[in-house]
Amino acid sequence: MVFSSLYSIPRPSFLNLPRESTSAWLYTTSAIVLSLLAIEQAVYRYKKRHLPGAAWTIPIIGKFADSLNPTLENYKKQWDSGALSAVSVFNIFIVMASSNEYSRKILNSPNHAEPCLVNCAKQVLCPDNWVFLTGKTHVEYRRGLNLLFTRRALSIYIPIQESLAKKHLSQWLENAKGGKSQPIMMTARELNMITSLRVFCGSHLPDEAAREINDKYWLITQALELVNFPLALPGTKVYKAIQARKAAMRWLELAASRSKAAMVAGGDPECMLDEWITILSDPTYKGRKEFSDNEMGMVILSFLFASQDAMSSGLIYLFQHLSDYPEIMAKVREEQDRVRGGNYDAPLTLDLLDSMTYLQATVKESMRVKPPVTMVPYRATKPFPIANDYVAPAGSIVIPSFFNSLHDPSVYPEPDAFKPERWLDQESSANTNPRNYLVFGSGPHKCIGIEYACMNMALVIATAVGMMTWEHDLTSESNEVDIIATLFPRDGCRLLFTPREHQ
Ligand code: HEM
Repeated sequence: MVFSSLYSIPRPSFLNLPRESTSAWLYTTSAIVLSLLAIEQAVYRYKKRHLPGAAWTIPIIGKFADSLNPTLENYKKQWDSGALSAVSVFNIFIVMASSNEYSRKILNSPNHAEPCLVNCAKQVLCPDNWVFLTGKTHVEYRRGLNLLFTRRALSIYIPIQESLAKKHLSQWLENAKGGKSQPIMMTARELNMITSLRVFCGSHLPDEAAREINDKYWLITQALELVNFPLALPGTKVYKAIQARKAAMRWLELAASRSKAAMVAGGDPECMLDEWITILSDPTYKGRKEFSDNEMGMVILSFLFASQDAMSSGLIYLFQHLSDYPEIMAKVREEQDRVRGGNYDAPLTLDLLDSMTYLQATVKESMRVKPPVTMVPYRATKPFPIANDYVAPAGSIVIPSFFNSLHDPSVYPEPDAFKPERWLDQESSANTNPRNYLVFGSGPHKCIGIEYACMNMALVIATAVGMMTWEHDLTSESNEVDIIATLFPRDGCRLLFTPREHQ
């Protein structure tokens, strides 16, 4: 019976060939497969040369399994294996740079390498998004966008940020009424997303749009892995991210068109889009003056994409660090009470935020200890002599990593300790070695939102300090790090909030 049922399975057609032809077919196929596998290994070893890294690559998939579950520990091992080291994933040859010198060299060599973000970024962000421009066109486009982050522009954003911070933090307090700690992982992400959407688009975005973009954005975050399954088939993370982007873009284009109409009608700028349109219509403005709703929507999308995960990671670790270091928290409080004269109802301004030097140092130090972005993938556009003795082949991915630069003990003594004081002394090694502070990258693609990001984090903490105290509900996973595009504490940072009694 067993044999008869086996024979009922249709035979592959090559088995119907004469015995000699079958063996020849099998022999040829095996020879081709073995040759391809041997070539794969030879190419890998040829590209890798003397760099540290596995001597052989796993056929076809390489280190794909590792990239599915990236851990900081594994990355640290890779970075510590050499200033340059090699890996291969799906036959994509990757050179990791861990030293400050090589990381900066990659970031500052636009003639040899350009950002390629993560593999799926073009599919998710649209291939014609400005962030993929390079060379002169990129510089010119970016020059116009820089005007969205001037002090004048930032001053327009502050009242929006402050009112949303107050609203969300009140909700956090409300949720804490049962005396139970709550993870701030998703609530902090929501605070950042809603703040960004309102800063960028103001009231030109209906509430339901902000809700939909916020709800769907997590699908984009989840697709931001270094290497994804190559095809965006239904059900894959990239496919879901593309659907989320389409939904977001519909609303962002609508916001751009509404903003244009509001400014033509003589309204005052109340958000980033309004400010942009006002700048473009200024007769003294020399740059490009016309941007379609779609182009404006894509710029806003690029800002959301670049900021949401990084700023959430930065803010969550800032809350966590402050609760883990009560003596630093006490100094932040003392500064707030002093600078604001105990009047937490007076609106925050840029000048007021500038005068909070201890808080600014705390924000800077928190991102040094736990850099939200630990690396940025670039692609070598031609053979790239990164080191005197190593040329990365054209087409390879070259990844500058920031962690080692930011934890270099010769620049930051006790590198894992959270010490805002190191930024207060202008002569400290931290301040005299600004080239090591790679939190926001370096070179032509350095983060465009630095001032906005730092200001926003400082503003949220300044607001929180006025409203509440918080304690860290430590768990066994509080100090474990998950990499979900950026760094997050594995337990989501559980905090217990209590309203602050004012004098
Ligand atoms: C804590 C928050 C943030 C961190 C840690 C961060 C970090 C970075 C890093 C490492 C890069 C790559 C730099 C390079 O390749 O040299 C980058 C690029 C970029 N960031 Fe940020 N960022 C943050 C917030 C923001 C915000 C709030 C915005 C916008 C509102 C923004 C917009 C961008 C854009 C558009 C780029 C690409 C610039 C270009 O290609 O010219 N980022 N950011």
